[in-house]
Amino acid sequence: MTRHDAQTRRRNAGILTICGIVGLLFMSEHSAFADEAENNLVVRMQTEQGHEIAQTWCSNCHVIEANGEGSIVTEAPTFQELAGRENQSDATLRAFLNKPHEPMPPLSLAREEIDGLIAYILSLAPAPQD
Ligand code: HEC
Repeated sequence: MTRHDAQTRRRNAGILTICGIVGLLFMSEHSAFADEAENNLVVRMQTEQGHEIAQTWCSNCHVIEANGEGSIVTEAPTFQELAGRENQSDATLRAFLNKPHEPMPPLSLAREEIDGLIAYILSLAPAPQD
């Protein structure tokens, strides 16, 4: 093997190493994207499911649609109002929905149903002002 060959080999090895590192970086970057896309999809599906549950179980009393159409039971806050309340969060809604109070009928909601309702309600929140 000539000296020239040895140099070429070393250089090729170097290039391969760099390609490998770039490849790894790309893959980890990519899987972060994939995770995010998957999370978004889960939230979208929950939101849709929550919307359907709300139509069935909540819309008799609450206005559940973003356009304000629906119920005329005035004491029940609209879902949009609920979403826009200060300090409203997954946790506050969850605490309430796990332990319903008068005059709401006792609804025993499954955990996934609660997840869906929360995702739906929070999806109605006004965009944060900055
Ligand atoms: C029979 C009528 C009725 C039904 C059905 C009903 N609600 Fe209510 N809900 C009310 C009324 C009235 C209030 C206001 C009572 C209060 O704030 O004390 C209320 C309040 C709430 C609140 C606010 C509680 C708070 O912290 O002030 C949430 C959240 C809520 N309802 C969610 C739901 C969800 C989700 C459903 C469907 C699964 C539902 N409600 C079904 C009548 C109803």
